[in-house]
Amino acid sequence: MHAALAPLAGLLGTFEGDGEGDYPTISPFRYRERVVFGHAGKPFVTYQQHTWQPDTDAPMHTEVGYLRVPGPAVDAPAGTTRVELVIAQPTGIVEVQEGTLEDGVLTLATTTVGRTATAKDVWSVRRTFALRDDLLVYDLWMAYAHVPDTHHLHAELRRTG
Ligand code: HEM
Repeated sequence: MHAALAPLAGLLGTFEGDGEGDYPTISPFRYRERVVFGHAGKPFVTYQQHTWQPDTDAPMHTEVGYLRVPGPAVDAPAGTTRVELVIAQPTGIVEVQEGTLEDGVLTLATTTVGRTATAKDVWSVRRTFALRDDLLVYDLWMAYAHVPDTHHLHAELRRTG
């Protein structure tokens, strides 16, 4: 493992569990999720996510990306690790996120959202991931169409590998 990944070492592995989603424009929903964080000897963590419908096993959202540890920012508060996240989604959206790791909590927000011509009008995304022992809890907020930054996802995943 690359030495720069030491602050993120606890994430490496597989996590599975349940999530729930909401948003002002849609009906609430539930999902099951598996996330795999890996590494390849370089200063980034690979991220592969799959979700499916709990009753029918029908596939739902999926995404892949990289968590990067580029070294300390000049203006980073003491005790925090600067992190970057890039994510690609089959819905035609890419997220470029920047943030920090502090006390086991990753706090990230988009600096750029890329959209293909037919992608939905997502303007910004924020994500938090909190790792406590083998429990990974995350939340996601987005600004979409005419809705400002609003909660969309909450999930609690346990380490399974
Ligand atoms: C665990 C991951 C996710 C799951 C399970 C999930 C699930 C859903 C579901 C079931 C809907 C309502 C039906 C539909 O439009 O397909 C929805 C809508 C939507 N989601 Fe997600 N989603 C996930 C992640 C994301 C992410 C990462 C984004 C943006 C970056 C996003 C953006 C949207 C948008 C824009 C809508 C449409 C809202 C509307 O049509 O009014 N979702 N999502």
